[in-house]
Amino acid sequence: MQHSQSKPGVKNEEREPLFRPTGRAEGLPGRAYYDPAFYEAERHTVFAKGWMGIGFAKDIPDSGDIQPITVAGWELITVRQKDGSIKVFHNICRHRGMRLVKEKGNARSIRCIFHCWTYALDGKLMATPVINGVNEHKAEDFDYSELGLKEVRSGQYLDIIFVNIDGQAVPLEEHLRPVRDRLEGTFDMSLIRDGETINTMSYPVNWKIAYEGGIEDYHVGFVHKKMRHSPAYQFEDGGTTYAGFSNSFKLEDIKGVIFESTTDGKTLPIFPKMVESGVTDAITLFIFPTVIIGCKPNSVNMSVSLPQGPEKTEYVGRTYFIGEAATDPSFQKLRDGVREFWAEAFHEDDVVWREVQAMVKIREDLNLETRFSPHWERALHAFQKYVAKEVGDDVRRDPASA
Ligand code: FES
Ligand SMILES: [Fe+2]
Repeated sequence: MQHSQSKPGVKNEEREPLFRPTGRAEGLPGRAYYDPAFYEAERHTVFAKGWMGIGFAKDIPDSGDIQPITVAGWELITVRQKDGSIKVFHNICRHRGMRLVKEKGNARSIRCIFHCWTYALDGKLMATPVINGVNEHKAEDFDYSELGLKEVRSGQYLDIIFVNIDGQAVPLEEHLRPVRDRLEGTFDMSLIRDGETINTMSYPVNWKIAYEGGIEDYHVGFVHKKMRHSPAYQFEDGGTTYAGFSNSFKLEDIKGVIFESTTDGKTLPIFPKMVESGVTDAITLFIFPTVIIGCKPNSVNMSVSLPQGPEKTEYVGRTYFIGEAATDPSFQKLRDGVREFWAEAFHEDDVVWREVQAMVKIREDLNLETRFSPHWERALHAFQKYVAKEVGDDVRRDPASA
């Protein structure tokens, strides 16, 4: 039996060094960041078996709003239903497999342009014009109830739409309980509103380089000159659900730092609980494999990082603010300031990440290991262990040669 790819996802001899204590551990091999076979393995494990965030409910506010989303080689559509709920389907016609929706829009039904099969918003197959001859619109042997769009199990947390492609994961509620337990005691999420403060980036790097680039605060101060290393930095361990970091400061000590800046006599409001206690918290959780929720005393960032191939990642982030600060025009300059602050940081990251991506093949050729800062990169280490566990050695073989 010949295999077009003979390397496993993460070889046993690579697994042992990765699972050592952080200071002695060695990172994922170079090929994990470019090899199509490794990416294909991730598609069927990391991305298909768990819950992944794919977009924002806010992007499809009205009944009939439809958005196509490509993520990790899966083609999906999110559809706002008449009753206000959201359904997610594979973007594939049940006739001959045509891609159904190419652009975001609003419609009363979903019609395939190839032979005009037409689906209701809830996915049911409604019409098959002339399928049985001119003026003959029904095929006798078809069970129409079985030919609806293929639905993807989905759910929502805050504004983020999650999907579980293989349909076998634990309920979303259960999966996200550790996230809610960690965040909601500290941040009153019922107060936050969408600020239409959106950042998008397209990074020519593997999704893990982008995720790893954000999951440590080691590089801040070096890459992001406007940021400083925090003396209060703490690792947040969420097992196989998330990893991240947090900082806690006295309110008086953060006065005047970027997000507390004042424009036209306005300051972004801080969560009331923190004002009362005088202690502010910032927590950033990387909810594997695509979501980041970053909570600050006066704003919450939510983002999805969508893999578009082994060496391309699309990022979409939205910032939410407290109460009227999200929508009141008098806060617009401050909202813009927050967006610009992040946009600048993302461009600074981009410069570095490209150079890391450029070296991954050489790193694989040299069999060169990477190392972790035992202080700043415990979350990064936790993330890599999660990937290794999920992927296992399940690299799919070329079926033609199996
Ligand atoms: S492929 Fe969609 S109607 Fe034929
Ligand atoms: Fe960064």
